[in-house]
Amino acid sequence: MIQILPSLLAADGARLGEEIRRVEASGADALHLDIMDAHFVPNLSFGPDVVRVAARCAPTLYRHVHLMLTRPDLYVAPFADAGAQTIQIHIEADCDIWQTLRTIRDRGLRSGLVLRPQTPPEAAFPYLDLCDEVLFMTVNPGYGGQSFMPEVLPHIEKLRNRLRSEGRPAFDIMVDGGVNFETGAQAAAAGANQFVAGSFLFRQPEMGAAVAALRDTCERAFHTRF
Ligand code: DX5
Ligand code: ZN
Repeated sequence: MIQILPSLLAADGARLGEEIRRVEASGADALHLDIMDAHFVPNLSFGPDVVRVAARCAPTLYRHVHLMLTRPDLYVAPFADAGAQTIQIHIEADCDIWQTLRTIRDRGLRSGLVLRPQTPPEAAFPYLDLCDEVLFMTVNPGYGGQSFMPEVLPHIEKLRNRLRSEGRPAFDIMVDGGVNFETGAQAAAAGANQFVAGSFLFRQPEMGAAVAALRDTCERAFHTRF
């Protein structure tokens, strides 16, 4: 299934509640919340309180949390308590990946594994039974508004081919960073089916129309190949 996830990082922070409700009204599949610790990535964003704000402003909008933390294992519980429904951790983090993915699932949440653009896709292979999705970063994590890195496309393709050869075509592959109509279609043609988009969607006067058009564009590109 093709899914579109606006990233709250690109929202107008002075009107956070309204921006969250704008995402809900857009028909997007989930709200993507980027958590940065100024250590794993060179930037600082927000913590569980903002996840709680999202749960309060738009209770039915699915909350998808991307932890860019050196020690995500220490923060599964606070984010789960705040209302996260999927928690993603980086494979490059400094913790027991196996155990942390298991803890996320034990809390009844979906688990995701994230790879930086430079990390080979094969690194994810041993964890595929412990996660519900793999996210390929298509920018260096840390900031919104960067350009999509096309060198990640073969990584997506490699994992999609592996999953198909294992008889798991429905496994979710997500991309995050620099997604717009053109790059979203490229990622979809390589095998991605979930698309995080921050600056592209938040700068649209009609977010709903843009979400629908992006979903449509990615759907067509995905089905030309898969
Ligand atoms: C980057 C974040 C992304 C970012 C995407 O570290 O993980 O989710 O907000 O923003 P755009 O779509 O503007 O590249
Ligand atoms: Zn993200």
